[in-house]
Amino acid sequence: MNGTVIRRASELPDGPLSVWAEPVAGPTAVLVCPPDAFDVIDVKNPHMAGSLGAVDRALAREQWGRLVEAFQRIGLPARRVAPLPGCEDMVFAANQTLTGVDAEGRPTVLLSRMRHPSRRREVPAFEAWFREHAWRVVDALPEGELLEGAGDVVWHPGRHLAWAGHGFRSSAAAHAVVAATFGALVLSLALCDERFYHLGTCLCPLDERAALVVCEAFDAAGLELLGAVFDEIVPCDPEEAAAALAANAVVLPGRGAVIDERAPRTIDVLSRYVDDVVTVDTGEFLKSGGSVFCLKQWLFGTTGMAAPV
Ligand code: ARG
Repeated sequence: MNGTVIRRASELPDGPLSVWAEPVAGPTAVLVCPPDAFDVIDVKNPHMAGSLGAVDRALAREQWGRLVEAFQRIGLPARRVAPLPGCEDMVFAANQTLTGVDAEGRPTVLLSRMRHPSRRREVPAFEAWFREHAWRVVDALPEGELLEGAGDVVWHPGRHLAWAGHGFRSSAAAHAVVAATFGALVLSLALCDERFYHLGTCLCPLDERAALVVCEAFDAAGLELLGAVFDEIVPCDPEEAAAALAANAVVLPGRGAVIDERAPRTIDVLSRYVDDVVTVDTGEFLKSGGSVFCLKQWLFGTTGMAAPV
């Protein structure tokens, strides 16, 4: 099954996840990019409408610094990519690449093709970081296919299995490239609500068996697939999901979680799954349609661990 894409519950292998999906180690660190050039200058997603020119850069810098501390506190040391002048969205480090391990366990990175030409300049800067740190770098998206990295691909906790979204920023055909690059099974979901334009804004696994899901964001086939793989679907409060991107949290099963402080009902939910829920203010970044999960890239293994932030 590895290397294939599944779009419907009826195509799933028989039996529980634990028999058909390989166990895999989780991330060991995160890669971040300081918000030196951060701004809202156009409307790439509905959250940005009304926030043109409204970013407080000094406040953004402060919020970003606290976020990096929060990652560290739950056991995710941060490495950084140098920001490029004029790349106002580069702080959203989840999008330029997709990181993971391949079937042999090698840290592997698949380069994105961003939907907006203004964001395409960000990708080579991330590519250079991964090459310098000896990752296996894959540049394999066919002409015309789009993929916005971990913005639209969420790894299943503890299993070599990827959930991938398409519709607004990534194309469905790109999911086959994810499956081939990582030798993983990919479970493909159509995204239906523009407020939840990336999968990372509407799906947040809580552990191997439970997930926080913004149900409004998916179609019937997607909800059926989610329900067939996870034993428990916890619906995310729709208001918190839209206004605070509550499902854009980082959850490390058994370790901790980081989430924006504007989502009290979701914070309660997370506290039932992990002991240490760290809350942060990502208010300046919410103006651009991003929060905790979008502001970092996962790092795996020990590759690239030499140079601290
Ligand atoms: N303004 C950015 C964009 O629309 C925000 C990206 C947030 N990242 C995310 N993974 N949702 O491209």
